[in-house]
Amino acid sequence: MGALQFIRRGELVQIAQFAPDQTLLDYLRLSEKSKGTKEGCNEGDCGACTVVLGTPHHGGVRYQAVNACILLLGQIHGKELVTVDDLARGGVLHPVQQAMVDAHASQCGFCTPGFVMSLFSLKHEGRKVSRTDVVEQIAGNLCRCTGYRPIVDAGLAACNTPADYWHVAQAETCAKLEAIQGDLFVGDTHCFFAAPASADALAECCADHPTATIVSGNTDVGLWITKQMRAQPRIIYTGRANGFADIKEHDDHISIGAGATYADAEAILVALAPDLGGLLKRIGSRQVRASGTIGGNIANGSPIGDMPPALIALGATLHLRGGPYYHHMPMEEFFVAYGQQKRKPGELVWRIDIPKPKPNQIFRAYKISKRFDQDISALMAAFLLTVEDSVIQDARIAFGGMAATPKRASKTELALKGKTLTEAQHAALDDFTPLSDMRASADYRNDVANALLKKALLEAVGAANTRVLA
Ligand SMILES: Cc1cc2nc3c(=O)[nH]c(=O)nc-3n(C[C@H](O)[C@H](O)[C@H](O)COP(=O)(O)OP(=O)(O)OC[C@H]3O[C@@H](n4cnc5c(N)ncnc54)[C@H](O)[C@@H]3O)c2cc1C
Ligand code: FES
Ligand code: FES
Repeated sequence: MGALQFIRRGELVQIAQFAPDQTLLDYLRLSEKSKGTKEGCNEGDCGACTVVLGTPHHGGVRYQAVNACILLLGQIHGKELVTVDDLARGGVLHPVQQAMVDAHASQCGFCTPGFVMSLFSLKHEGRKVSRTDVVEQIAGNLCRCTGYRPIVDAGLAACNTPADYWHVAQAETCAKLEAIQGDLFVGDTHCFFAAPASADALAECCADHPTATIVSGNTDVGLWITKQMRAQPRIIYTGRANGFADIKEHDDHISIGAGATYADAEAILVALAPDLGGLLKRIGSRQVRASGTIGGNIANGSPIGDMPPALIALGATLHLRGGPYYHHMPMEEFFVAYGQQKRKPGELVWRIDIPKPKPNQIFRAYKISKRFDQDISALMAAFLLTVEDSVIQDARIAFGGMAATPKRASKTELALKGKTLTEAQHAALDDFTPLSDMRASADYRNDVANALLKKALLEAVGAANTRVLA
């Protein structure tokens, strides 16, 4: 039913047939023959393939940089696609391109299209941009010959130039995008790309096709396709389902729809627990955070996913939906064993409810990885300590990377209960037997996990003294 529809260079493009697991990068380079967008790593790490997607936003268009190599063509249904080939108009370079030339910010040029598109999206955020903002924006773009200083200079200069064609055309583009409506189903029952338009239709579609691959941001599934060469003939994409990414604030908790991306959820999560801000900035890159979802990070069941330990420590409840039926469980109960989660085929991770920390609680989250930016954790630790008159009334401690699943340190939690913060400083972890792998040795993991426990307890002393706990 229907055809894939998106806006490109101001025009509606319709594609009635395509392989469900075709990447956007392959479409651009092999079908459209737009070769400006480059293929480097093909796994979301280098940013050479960065393009920009526009989505309707308060009557205008929100432009976000994404990695085309791990985005499926079908995911751009209802979006505007902007690539580096589109920027120069009438023989005049776009202000971002001109700034790159002026700052001598390109040598071999292989990385340049990706940088240009990342900076294009930053320019379109329409805010005053600092050097730190530019550095954060390009953390997912690698350059091996020019060096970053001139690129950052170009970014700063480009973001302070006047409005461009895309600013001027926003209202018109928004109207064209909003006209693309309804469920998308391209293919037949054996081979299809489906993008239901409502949350109910999504749940029904997953229940009807329990063996199909559920795709949210595709930042994990994309690598099955490009690196493991695993064909994905039946795909149900969650990203068009109205209501599935809703974020709501209640008196004592927040609710995050599983389809919310990191970029969407960042503001409310940081307001809930400021330590989550530091963590979120280190999940992938701006491109990965624009596509990747909180629900996908939980559903993939990875022992080194960054959100689960933080959500477990905060006492989050996970809601699942299979067809019309809902059920829920404490977050930690979802992770049964390596590669095994409490989720039936066709069921969706639906929503996450996270209690707001109370005034007498301190929350800390620490990510340990080899690189600061764009790296998977060797270890992830999160602590929620309830402290009254310098005595620990309760402790919730969760680690990633220390076992086959994200896991609570139950023995340590019990040992800390009733201790004063001073007594607690001698505590040591007695919950895990970690493995050695390419990210870290077992000894390193044990040492660092104990150091993080100590760090959290020391910070709790400081927080209790100043009464600034959360
Ligand atoms: C370059 C790069 C850097 C990364 N860095 C980090 C990092 O720093 N920290 C980190 O934790 N992760 C990182 N990741 C991994 C990934 O981005 C996250 O796990 C992300 O949250 C996955 O979400 P997604 O929406 O893209 O999931 P998808 O790839 O769409 O799906 C992942 C899995 O979950 C299933 N699924 C998705 N949504 C649902 C749902 N609602 N219900 C049921 N099943 C569902 C899919 O079928 C699949 O099995 C990185 C990935 C890349 C490519
Ligand atoms: S080609 Fe490296 S991020 Fe896409
Ligand atoms: S200019 Fe050569 S990799 Fe950046």
